[in-house]
Amino acid sequence: MANILLINGSPHPNGCTATALEEMTKVFHQEGMETHLLHVGNKDIRGCISCNTCDKRGKRAFDDAVNEAAPLFEQADGLVVGSPVYYGSPNGSLLSFLDRLFYSTSFPKHMKVGAAVVSCRRGGNTASFDVLNKYFTISGMPVASSTYWNQVHGFTAEDVKKDLEGLQTMRNLARNMAFLIKAIADAKEKYGLPPVERSYFTSFPDGK
Ligand SMILES: Cc1cc2nc3c(=O)[nH]c(=O)nc-3n(C[C@H](O)[C@H](O)[C@H](O)COP(=O)(O)O)c2cc1C
Repeated sequence: MANILLINGSPHPNGCTATALEEMTKVFHQEGMETHLLHVGNKDIRGCISCNTCDKRGKRAFDDAVNEAAPLFEQADGLVVGSPVYYGSPNGSLLSFLDRLFYSTSFPKHMKVGAAVVSCRRGGNTASFDVLNKYFTISGMPVASSTYWNQVHGFTAEDVKKDLEGLQTMRNLARNMAFLIKAIADAKEKYGLPPVERSYFTSFPDGK
């Protein structure tokens, strides 16, 4: 059975972002998919210190929510990342979490489907949405889309429940994501995964 990992980057386990993720979860279950939800926005999460020891140690430099999430991400066919907007960006704890989750894990993320969801009261949603999508698009992860950019509006969960278009966007997003996951599973059987080249890593240390 396909399974989807949902990350709530908000410190509120029953807040606006959680409400959007719940709306998606209902659809995933209707589509016969398993889900796993992690709340990381209220956890103590260190940012990446660029020590490059994760590969050597076989685990992350800090023992926090990233260690818990890594094996779940490895097993998952899809990843949904939800965040409240803080000063026009995703929540800072979530960014620390994602930097380390993506940088420290060497398992292939290729063709796992990604979706970003943002919740704001007034503004900064599309800028935050862009930031989150970049984790997927550097990792060979196809990005699921919907009938609007994946956002809900509100200060409380009750506000989000009144954002009917936002919730509709979440349901359409979840349906599209489920479809993509099923289609990719079929395509893997039929064609195999496309090869990935990794030979070049150009950072121009000679300044040319
Ligand atoms: C530190 C902080 C900064 C915020 N910055 C913004 C902002 O830039 N734009 C906005 O519309 N809402 C902002 N908000 C409001 C939250 O993004 C909004 O209420 C969100 O829906 C809360 O989601 P949650 O209940 O999942 O935590 C901010 C809230 C906090 C605590």
